[in-house]
Amino acid sequence: MKTITITLAAMLLAGTTLYADDDRYEKKRYHKEKSKASELYIQECASCHMAYQPEFLPKRSWEKTMRTLADHFGTDATLDKEDYATIRAYLLRNAADAKRVGGDIGKMGRKIPDDQTPLRISETPYFKKEHRKIPKRLVRQKEVKSFANCTACHQKAEQGDYSERSLVIPNYGRWDD
Ligand code: HEC
Ligand code: HEC
Repeated sequence: MKTITITLAAMLLAGTTLYADDDRYEKKRYHKEKSKASELYIQECASCHMAYQPEFLPKRSWEKTMRTLADHFGTDATLDKEDYATIRAYLLRNAADAKRVGGDIGKMGRKIPDDQTPLRISETPYFKKEHRKIPKRLVRQKEVKSFANCTACHQKAEQGDYSERSLVIPNYGRWDD
């Protein structure tokens, strides 16, 4: 666990620099919380994949994700009690239905029907619509593996930038819609 903690600390440092860079751009797109809680979120939830913006999913999705961390997509992502409470609260207060969220992130979060509780951003209706034209082989290839790997194509996903100008699909290139 020690080595993991060190790696996470390094990732956290890298993460915060990235966040600082694009401040002005990002603010126009959606309101991102920067706090001890958001740093903890990055530290704990971005060791296996990127720190998905909480604005993508509604509160009920994050509640379910947090309830089921012991069996999280085939992995164990459980947290200690204190971190659990901090991260859960962070996700809930920044969820799609907790505040006004602008830009394409907001659009994705808003288009989830009330009777659905998706655990995946990549299975929400607007996500599927936006990504439907991408050939399966480009997703399955080893450089991407799955749609959960946003950063493989969206080079600034961690900063909340999903625009076409920072989109490059491995072994394909720029996307012309
Ligand atoms: C031990 C590794 C691990 C940790 C830690 C972890 N996850 Fe995951 N997570 C996964 C795996 C594996 C997947 C599925 C990836 C795939 O389908 O390619 C996943 C997928 C997800 C997805 C769905 C992505 C999509 O397809 O849209 C969300 C949301 C998510 N995780 C949230 C979290 C949150 C919140 C935390 C922190 C509480 C967390 N994860 C911590 C391993 C982890
Ligand atoms: C295989 C490459 C690939 C992966 C992986 C991928 N995307 Fe995309 N994404 C695209 C393409 C291509 C588009 C369509 C761009 C267009 O037509 O405007 C797109 C569009 C989007 C848009 C809409 C942008 C807009 O201008 O409206 C959002 C938001 C988005 N993706 C989020 C995500 C998230 C979040 C993930 C991970 C959970 C992800 N994407 C994973 C390739 C990818």
